[in-house]
Amino acid sequence: MDPNVLKTHPAFGQIHVSDCIDGMAELPAGCIDLAFADPPFNIGYTYDVYDDSLESDEYIQWSESWIRGVHRVLADDGAFWLAIGDEYAAELKVLAQQIGFQCRSWVIWYYTFGVHCKYKFTRSHAHLFHFVKDEKHFKFNADDPSVRVPSARQLVYNDRRANSKGRMPDDTWILRPQDLPYGFTADEDIWYFPRVAGTFKERAGFHGCQMPEQLLGRIIRACSDPGDKVLDPFSGSATTVAVAKKLGREFISFEMSEEYVSLGTERLEQIRVGDPLTGAADPLRSAPATNGKKNESKAEKLAREEEERQRWATQQVGPQLEFQFETMRAMTDGELINAFREIHDGHSVDRVLLDPVLSDRLESACRRISEREPAASRRQRLIELRASGALTAEGIHTERPTTIPTTTLERFSYAAELAWAILVQRYPEHSLDDIFTDPKLLEEFDREAMLHAADADPLTLRWCATQLRSWATTAREHQPGADEPEQSAPKFSAAKNWTTTSGPTSKSGSAKGGLYQVLAQDGSVLFVGETSDFTVRFGDHLASESAARFWRNEAGGQPKIRTASIQDATGPERRLAMCRWLQENPAASRNLVSLWSTDIPLGASTPS
Ligand SMILES: C[S@@+](CC[C@H](N)C(=O)[O-])C[C@H]1O[C@@H](n2cnc3c(N)ncnc32)[C@H](O)[C@@H]1O
Repeated sequence: MDPNVLKTHPAFGQIHVSDCIDGMAELPAGCIDLAFADPPFNIGYTYDVYDDSLESDEYIQWSESWIRGVHRVLADDGAFWLAIGDEYAAELKVLAQQIGFQCRSWVIWYYTFGVHCKYKFTRSHAHLFHFVKDEKHFKFNADDPSVRVPSARQLVYNDRRANSKGRMPDDTWILRPQDLPYGFTADEDIWYFPRVAGTFKERAGFHGCQMPEQLLGRIIRACSDPGDKVLDPFSGSATTVAVAKKLGREFISFEMSEEYVSLGTERLEQIRVGDPLTGAADPLRSAPATNGKKNESKAEKLAREEEERQRWATQQVGPQLEFQFETMRAMTDGELINAFREIHDGHSVDRVLLDPVLSDRLESACRRISEREPAASRRQRLIELRASGALTAEGIHTERPTTIPTTTLERFSYAAELAWAILVQRYPEHSLDDIFTDPKLLEEFDREAMLHAADADPLTLRWCATQLRSWATTAREHQPGADEPEQSAPKFSAAKNWTTTSGPTSKSGSAKGGLYQVLAQDGSVLFVGETSDFTVRFGDHLASESAARFWRNEAGGQPKIRTASIQDATGPERRLAMCRWLQENPAASRNLVSLWSTDIPLGASTPS
């Protein structure tokens, strides 16, 4: 649009005292790139001049008028974000769609500091609709790193294959942080920004509905570029225009209340383009800043900051839990290290996490200090402390070896593999470390593995999985590149060498061991294994009632077995053959096929 066209219209860079319907009518059609509207919700809220308790029909009629106004002024590739409460979310969404908008996202904004309700659940969310005019042409800055959030791969798994730019935030449900105090991270599905409470430095102080700058920042960054035109029909405390100005966008807003306009204009005047947004970008990791006193001593400052931290944390978990704050907190790293020192008995972190007896001891030692931090969070922190060298730095020695005989490992590793494969299918983002740090996942792992190896103990099965992981790591590191000559492979890797037999106890070839496949009724391969002794393996693998039931279920009837003998092959050669077969036949079986490619996270630690 020719910028001169705008000269005769309400000026950009200002908040206008005007009814937004009249104000928008003065703007040329299609001149706005992004509109953000946080209208009154019609819930009887007390504003300066606006009456927030219209009859329902009247409110909907009025909403239709202003949404039509937004639609007219919005560019064809523009975006319209609507913030709205439960009362009229459904009605206004339908209305906006009837007017011609397409809904791209229905984001739930989760907040704390909701108005406490005695006889219903305290409201802690609002709806944010992202509408566009044209489903195919709209601006969405998916690659802007400041819109993205760290991925679980980056934050939790420390996975070097993670996209360094992070990931787009999701839009899903989380209950309340107090239900999930340590699991509510910035990359979860609900955007979590605390409401701008009275004590926050960010609080402009004159408007009860002030939105957090970080929330507007995400919307403005995602749906507009510097220089684009941003409109807010309901300016209130001027958050939208304040953020638009900081981010170098052109802006215009309307507000009925002269007082709000004058105070909002003062707020705007104090802002320079490029100023940082107020409020924590990641509110879970940092408490919002409040004003300190002048001339306070270092000790006073520390005491104030601690008090603020506690008050803030208490507010996050809800006043009703205030008295529990002390035990709600996570253990400090020092306390966790001491608990580990007390129980580890010379064993490694892996051993403590995988050994049910040592794990129980760790739990008891930790619970004496912090009742509420979930075990998974503590166990994860322990792995991080080990990786950072903090345990060694504290003089903790963990050289006591964990020895499981090779024969035992060979006997049970297929059961660990099946259990791991099933968990990977259920939770594709989780690495083995995640499974082993979360007691619930660990329990699932044990249950699945014991279907196939009822006489193995949990520590053995878990240790087998860590062994598999180190094979997988080695295999990944030694994968031949496309232009490298193929490594010498054992001759039996070709399918023609397979011998099909009818029963689980059969064996073939002159060698005792080699590769074997479990086949479904339709001939598809369910599992590929390697063993030094077919007879022993089939006895273990398929003979127990629970394993037989599992395979019958998978196979759609009695499974068939094919074997390929490997004369004189050692364990590593058999494994290499199996890996090669799995690479050549991806997705053919319940094996951890992708372990040997690069699809699933393995986890950072190796057993020590
Ligand atoms: C929910 S508040 C907006 C809060 C704002 N998002 C913020 O961060 O401060 C709604 C505002 O719209 C104003 N308002 C209500 N009806 C209006 C209208 N027809 N035109 C312009 N402003 C209006 C109210 O005075 C109120 O300040």
